[in-house]
Amino acid sequence: MKGIILAGGTGSRLNPITQSISKQLLPVYNKPMIYYPLSLLMLAGIKDILIISSEEHLPLYKKLFNDGEYLGLNINYQKQKYPNGIAEALIIGKKFINNDDVSLILGDNIFFGSKVKETLINSIKITKEKQVASLFGKFVNNPLSYGVAKFNHNHKIIKIIEKPKSFISNIALTGLYCFPKDINSKVKLIKPSKRNELEITDINNLYIRENRINFEIFDRGQVWFDMGTPDNLVDASLFVQSIEKRQNQMIGCLEEIAFKNKFISRKDFIKLINNFKNNFYKSYLENLIK
Ligand code: TTP
Repeated sequence: MKGIILAGGTGSRLNPITQSISKQLLPVYNKPMIYYPLSLLMLAGIKDILIISSEEHLPLYKKLFNDGEYLGLNINYQKQKYPNGIAEALIIGKKFINNDDVSLILGDNIFFGSKVKETLINSIKITKEKQVASLFGKFVNNPLSYGVAKFNHNHKIIKIIEKPKSFISNIALTGLYCFPKDINSKVKLIKPSKRNELEITDINNLYIRENRINFEIFDRGQVWFDMGTPDNLVDASLFVQSIEKRQNQMIGCLEEIAFKNKFISRKDFIKLINNFKNNFYKSYLENLIK
């Protein structure tokens, strides 16, 4: 399973903050935003990662992660010339995916809670074994702003409707998707929407029509934020802060995950710690090996 993080976009809802910086590098409490989606892919055991961003911002991601080897990862980079839609990631990433299964996560999404990791690992397995798409829903209080799931009387998902005009359900689609090997042929079938974007919803509906869907709904024990508005950005920061302070355990600490998942050896972990400036982050990592 490969992993793609989509870290482009216009970030218009966060303007002027995003006038001169990539949204997915903004701080969410004590880490860059992209650490959170990347950490979830790592927790699920995915090591081959593609980061997609604009030509302007890509060098900043390269500066942050390099080739990812220090985390035991293989991080690749590709540019998206213009924000032509989320589904374009699968076209840009065609060579990288190389007929494998792929998990796509939006760079401004954070997931946290009991069983998030297990749910993703299990869905990856289902996608691999059954060659279906795995999609993840979450209850929201403002469903008209999202891609929303429509269900039949048997609670089976029958369609996803992008930003519906009236109430369909209050289950929104989150920015996490696992696609089987034929994703490449599916991407070829879709056309730009009215808003001139290649919609991930159109891809998902193709799999729904073929009855090739594994739909998981995160419940109240699992938290999902899309950090694309000023309020959500602050909410996510406060959320991470409150959890981390309470339990003295970090959320989205890439080095910790790389060490605990054995992506890197203890020796390499110690070497890595020494490269950090003396601050809370270094102390936290040092405590992990005490
Ligand atoms: P959005 O939040 O839908 O779009 P945006 O980031 O451009 O923000 P705004 O609506 O405020 O203008 O995008 C969701 C995620 O997908 C986000 O991480 C950006 C990314 N994205 C791309 O990288 N390329 C794209 O073409 C699109 C549409 C989104």
